[in-house]
Formats: sequence, structure tokens, C-alpha cells
Amino acid sequence: MKEKLEALLSAAVAELAAVKSEDALQELRVKYLGKKGEITSVMKGLGSLSPEERPLVGQVVNTVKAQLEEALEKRSVEVREAAKAERLASERVDVTLPGRRRAVGSKHPITLVTEEIVSIFAGLGFGVAEGPEVEHDFYNFEALNFPKDHPARDMQDTFFVGENVLLRTHTSPVQVRTMLKQPPPVRIIAPGTVYRCDSDATHSPMFHQVEGLMVDKGISFGDLKGILTLFISQLFGEGVGVRLRPSFFPFTEPSAEVDIACVICKGKGCRVCKNTGWLEILGAGMVDPEVYRHVGYDAETYSGFAFGMGIERIAMLKYGIADMRLLFENDLRFLKQF
Ligand code: PHE
Repeated sequence: MKEKLEALLSAAVAELAAVKSEDALQELRVKYLGKKGEITSVMKGLGSLSPEERPLVGQVVNTVKAQLEEALEKRSVEVREAAKAERLASERVDVTLPGRRRAVGSKHPITLVTEEIVSIFAGLGFGVAEGPEVEHDFYNFEALNFPKDHPARDMQDTFFVGENVLLRTHTSPVQVRTMLKQPPPVRIIAPGTVYRCDSDATHSPMFHQVEGLMVDKGISFGDLKGILTLFISQLFGEGVGVRLRPSFFPFTEPSAEVDIACVICKGKGCRVCKNTGWLEILGAGMVDPEVYRHVGYDAETYSGFAFGMGIERIAMLKYGIADMRLLFENDLRFLKQF
């Protein structure tokens, strides 16, 4: 019986060496040590032995059992280790590979130009003011001294939303709103979206303006010219030619249109400046006393200037963009260049 047990042990150990999984290991355990296992069935035969033989064989059984259990345990550790090593190898990551770069967006040219304009005027002490895009006739026209029959009120230019309610056609209503809210001195810049019923290569029904307003005691046309000249030299570069032409706006008197020497041909004359050498970039003037009357400012004590410019036009000149529609199509090939 002793030989039989030892033969069983060596058979089990041999089988064990071939085992590669926990499941197979468990099967082997049942085969030898389970209720109907081979060693168990030998143990069941102990009863038929003589009282002298029984303890001796019992001892051998116990030793064999202990040895087999130890072998099983050892193999179990090996199998688990092997499985772990295999899993680690299959999950291996090459940390030296370059990562996948996320596409990072960039600022829209309109945003870039707006930020630049705001920051130049911030340096001159101007704060930012805002107003609604859906506006009352009063702020957009009435308080800005547009007579009832002024052509700018015509359906051709203005998108009306309802009676006396419209999409603002310029940022000038922010002048009115600001002055109604606070007493002088005023020094604000108001960037925003405006709407006009107009659409071609250089006009869009929705576009952007920046308004400026400065009101205080003793502000003159010289201050207007000085501040705008400084602004232009910071935006377009030192020494760019600036010229003021007489013009008309209902809410400024006197009024001027401000031109810069053509940034494309440097004043020689080209297609962009229509051979004039000059590009119009903004409208400006001294705030009309009629506007002060609407907002309750004393026109005898205070004076000031206002100006307004189209941001798309400035972006087109600054970046050499020939068609305004590019600014609204959001083609990534275009936007990625900024
Ligand atoms: N609001 C005018 C326009 O849209 C521009 C302007 C603003 C002119 C302020 C003078 C003063 O054309």
C-alpha cells in the first residue's frame, strides 16, 4: 500500500508539472484529494488493514497527503505568477511613444482685433461698456438726433423686430445708455455686434463695431484727433499717415471721417484703396448738443467726442483678407491661420 501511495504521489507530481491553469489545478486536486479522489479511496481501505499495519500506513498516507498539498500549493503560486506575467506583458504600454496631440483652437480674427482695440483704449483710461443688440428706436435713433424721416431709419438698412424695436444698426446707442446711467466724466469703449440689411463681399448683415465716447470739461476736437492718431499708430504701426475729412452724422457736430494711408500700397494707390492712397477706417465727431439734451447733460459745461469703427474692416486691412465673408464662414483652413 505504501508503494501504491508513493506511486500515486509521483504520478500526481508529474501531472502537476504540466498544469497551466488554476482550473486544471483544481481538477487535479479533486482527482487525488477529493471525496472520490485516488488518495482518499486508499485511505478508505485503511479499515481493512491489521491494527499493527494501520498506524504505519496511516502515517505514510498523511505524509503523502501533506507532500501533495504542498506541491499543489507551490504549483498554484507558479501558475498565478505566470498568468500575471503574461497579463502584464500583454498590457505593456510604451511610455516613450509620443502622445496624441489634442487640436487646440485659436481666437477668431474678430476677437483678436477687438481685444487689441480694447486693450489700447484701456491703456488710455477707457472702460468697457455694453448694450443690448435688440434695441429701442429711442436709443438707436431718437436720442442720437436722427430726424423721423432720416434715410437710416428706412427698412432697407434697419431690421425691425417690432414697433420701435429693432436690431441695433450701430454701437452708438451705448453712448446714450452710458450717459443716462452716469454723470460726466465719461470715458468708455463699447465693442459689439450690429445689424444692417446689406450683404456682399464687403458688407455683412451682421458685423461688429467698437464705439468710443469721452465727455468731460474742456474736451476739444484736438483731443479727438490726438487720441485717434495715437490709437492708429498703436494698431497699424508708428508713422502711418492719418487724415480727417469733414463728414456728417446726426449725433456729432462737427463730424469727420478718419482715413489711414493705405496699408497695402503705403499711399501709392492700389486696388484696395481704389487708387486714392487712403482707407477710411472710422467715423467720429464732437457729441452734438442735441444728444446731451436727450441724456440730461449740460452742454454748456461739458463737451466730448465720439467715434465708431467697423471691426471686420480693420481685421481685413490688418490681416490682408480680401472677402469679408471669410470671417463668417468658419472654415477651419482659414481660422487656423490666426
Ligand atoms: N455710428 C456711426 C456709424 O455706424 C459711426 C460713428 C460713431 C460716427 C460715433 C461718429 C461718432 O456709421
